[in-house]
Parts: sequence; C-alpha cells; structure tokens
Amino acid sequence: MDVPADLLTRLRDHLAETGYTIDGVRERLGDVAATALAREELVPAIRATRDLDPLGTLIRLWWLGLAVPEGRTGLPVAELAAAGLLERDGDEVRATVHLQPWETGGYLVSDRKVRPGDPALRPDHVVGAGGASANLAQLVTRRPVETALDLGTGCGVQVLHLAGRAERITATDVNPRALRLARLSWALSGVPDVDARLGPGFEPVTGERFDLVVSNPPFVISPRGRFTYRETGAAGDDFCRDLVRHAPRHLNPGGCCQILANWLHVKGEDWRDRVGGWLAATGCDGWAVQRDVQDPAEYVELWLRDAAEQGTPAYRERYDEWLGWLESLGVTGIGFGWITLRDGGSLDPVVRVEELTTPVEQPVGGYVEEVLDAITTAHRIGTDELLDALLVTRPDVVEERVGPPGAEDPARIVLRQTRGLRRRAEVGTVEAALAGVCDGELPLRPLLAAIAELTGADPDALIGRADELRTLIAEGFFQVTGVATDH
Ligand SMILES: C[S@@+](CC[C@H](N)C(=O)[O-])C[C@H]1O[C@@H](n2cnc3c(N)ncnc32)[C@H](O)[C@@H]1O
Repeated sequence: MDVPADLLTRLRDHLAETGYTIDGVRERLGDVAATALAREELVPAIRATRDLDPLGTLIRLWWLGLAVPEGRTGLPVAELAAAGLLERDGDEVRATVHLQPWETGGYLVSDRKVRPGDPALRPDHVVGAGGASANLAQLVTRRPVETALDLGTGCGVQVLHLAGRAERITATDVNPRALRLARLSWALSGVPDVDARLGPGFEPVTGERFDLVVSNPPFVISPRGRFTYRETGAAGDDFCRDLVRHAPRHLNPGGCCQILANWLHVKGEDWRDRVGGWLAATGCDGWAVQRDVQDPAEYVELWLRDAAEQGTPAYRERYDEWLGWLESLGVTGIGFGWITLRDGGSLDPVVRVEELTTPVEQPVGGYVEEVLDAITTAHRIGTDELLDALLVTRPDVVEERVGPPGAEDPARIVLRQTRGLRRRAEVGTVEAALAGVCDGELPLRPLLAAIAELTGADPDALIGRADELRTLIAEGFFQVTGVATDH
C-alpha cells in the first residue's frame, strides 16, 4: 500500500473538516449505538447514520466497514482506490481498511474488525486499537524520554501516545503488513520520523538501548500460532516471560519497560511466584499487577469470539483442542495484567507482585514511577534510617472506622486512598494515629514515642515494630520526604 503523502494530507484534512473525530463520532452515534457496537451489533449505528450526510457516510465507510454511495463520500475515490484504501463496486465504494480517529487526535489504520458471519481472519490480520491498547497507553510513564521502543506496534497506536513525550521513537513488528498500516497511521496523525523495523522480539534492535520500552505483545496463550496479532506459537506464557527477561538488555540506566501480559495459573504453583520469578531474573526493580483472571473456558471463548469464530463449523473442535491443551498443562486460570520494570542500577532490586482488580485513577502513567519509588524506598531504607525518616501521610488518604453503633472503639480501622491506585489497608491504632500526625515535621522515632505515651504502650516495643510500616510505605500511604540528621 503505497499512498502518496499529499493524498494522505488531503484525506486527513477532509476527515477532520467533516467532523470524523473521536468526539464527532461519539456524538453522532450516541451511547446506545456505541455500546451496541462494542457488542458487535451494528443496527443502532446504521440507524444513527441513515441520513448519509458527510459525517454519517464517513462513519459507515471507515468505521462500520459498510458500502456507501460513491457520490456521497466527498473523497478522491479514484486516487484512494488506486492506493488500495478503497474498492469500487458499481456506484458504491467500500473501505479495504478500518480507519478510526483516536483519542490522541490522530487516526489509526488497521484491518477491518471481523464480525460474526464474516470471512475468516487472514493470519497476518492487523488488529485495530482497542481496550488493551488503551490500557497500555494509560499505564506508560508520562516522563519525557529521549528514546522509546514500541515492540509489536501493530497499527501504530502506542507511537501516537509516545509522540511528544519521546524525542526518537523506534517501532517494530514481525508482520510487514502491520508496519505498512502503521506508517499510514503515523502519516495521517502528523507523526513523522518513526524508525520502523521488521522482525521478531528484540531482534530488530539488537545491541540498542532505550529510555522506555513499551509493548502490547501477542500475549495470547494458545496451542498454536494462528494469528500474528495475538499469539506467536511460543509454549505457554513463554513469549511474555522472554520479553521480560530480555528487556533489561535494551534499557538505558533509569529506563523503564512497560508491557501488558498474560500468565498461567498452574496447579500446585502460586502465580505470584511464577511472575515474580520472571521479574526477579531481570535485576531491575519490578512491579507486576494482575488486573483480571479468567478460567480456561472463559479464556478460550474470549479469543474465539475475538476472531469471530463463534458459530463457525470449526468452533467446537477449536474450543475442545484449546481447552484440552490447557488442561494438559495443568492450567487452572489465566491472569491478565501489567508489568513494569525499571533499571534502577541497584544491587538490591525489589519486585512486587500483586492483584488489583478495582478501578484505579487513570492514567496510571501519571504516577507509576511514584508507585515504583514507594516500593523501592520501603525495601531499601534501613531500620535506623526509617526511625529517623520524616514521613508524610499522603493527602488523599482517609480513615474509615467500622464497628457496632455506639461502641467506644472501632472493630476495624481502614486507611483508604481516594486517588491513585485507591488501595485500602486495615491498620491498628498505632498506624492510624501515625496517619493523623505524620506531616514531615518530626521523625518517626519521637512520633512513636509520643504515641506510646498517649496510649500507655511500651515505647521500645512500638519503636521495635517500626519495620511493620514498610508495607504502608510501599503502598504509598506514607511518603518518606527526608531523613532527619540531628537525631
Ligand atoms: C496485540 S497486537 C498490539 C498492537 C498495538 N501495539 C496495540 O497496542 O494495540 C501485537 C502486535 O505484535 C506483533 N507481533 C506478533 N509476534 C511478534 C513477535 N514475535 N515480535 C514482534 N512483534 C510481534 C503483531 O503483529 C501485532 O501487531
């Protein structure tokens, strides 16, 4: 698909002028049609565009993948057809690709989404941006960097998010068709100069290092590599494991690698040990979060549905084969989540693996490095240093006391973050008292001594339990703002 640059410029101008933008499409379709589309139901969207006005026509053509009357498009149809983006059929014209406005203000070109009843996906199908793409984009640190790598760029969506934050961007994909469509996305979005390279894994960037590596990889765990967009044919969850293992070789000091991943829950093994083992082998500080877990049947159904294979003659056979294969591996579930590595240069790296399934403040990328800072501080601060540390209770933390009505003492005290990861922690009266007084003025030791005096507790015993605060520091309830030097 060799599309002249001036044609892409004219196309982009036309799309924007017609209101074919995220807001324009959202407004035209409305909530009902948009949520119906998410369920693969087109009828409400067809009704919302039946006037075939310029915007409705573009939505039908590029978003819904429907044939529209050529005369209604306002597009240079002959040129776009010659470039392979449109196909003529009598008086009608149909798009050969999916062209969607994206939340960054740019446009993405991918293959058209398949819907039930459509012909089977081509093996080199280039998937459009979706929920997973948006999840990764929201996870990625907002820290400006010089160099960034997007591994498995697909339609090029992560590059649109990195543009403006990374001075130089390299994007790779094993699928040549993906790079062709990604180049169109970047050109239509005014993101020039992306260094696009073909090849598997880190091969195209052998010997190179970056400040930031991001990847929404082909993480699907399946018995064979049928579709490049979702799986590689690597055994089990080895592809994600290997990405994690090899990433540090491609990170500059202080650099971050952030990926989405799937991992297996296997009988007799704690998934935390499995994923923690991947991260521990890197020598980087790491944070892995399980956002969801599905049982094997749910998982197989999800991906068969994603490829519109429900209702096809091969559906049962594929379902059975996939499920049997997972069973033979002793798989009890599949975890979906985020992995962040940061090359902190420490000889004592720390890895935190946790499950967080509740909604978090978005974008996580706005504070992900603070999360890592909290984890590493809690791990590395010595006990004496901790007692001399100035702590501040994070300003969004609230306290909830739960107990029988009228009771003098609560049965439970919970500290809850109202922002960020929105963690909650059940705490004792000492931690609750600390949360009330930690304002960075006095170090921890005299604060604990004062709390002991007020509560009649043994001060030495309280001071001896200071290490127990590490979890609340790692989880960001308390921030270490400094260490007092005059104690
Ligand atoms: C899930 S798509 C992600 C696309 C896009 N980056 C996003 O965020 O939506 C995964 C991409 O990885 C590519 N891919 C598959 N196998 C690969 C491999 N071995 N090395 C690099 N990329 C690969 C696929 O072609 C596909 O474009």
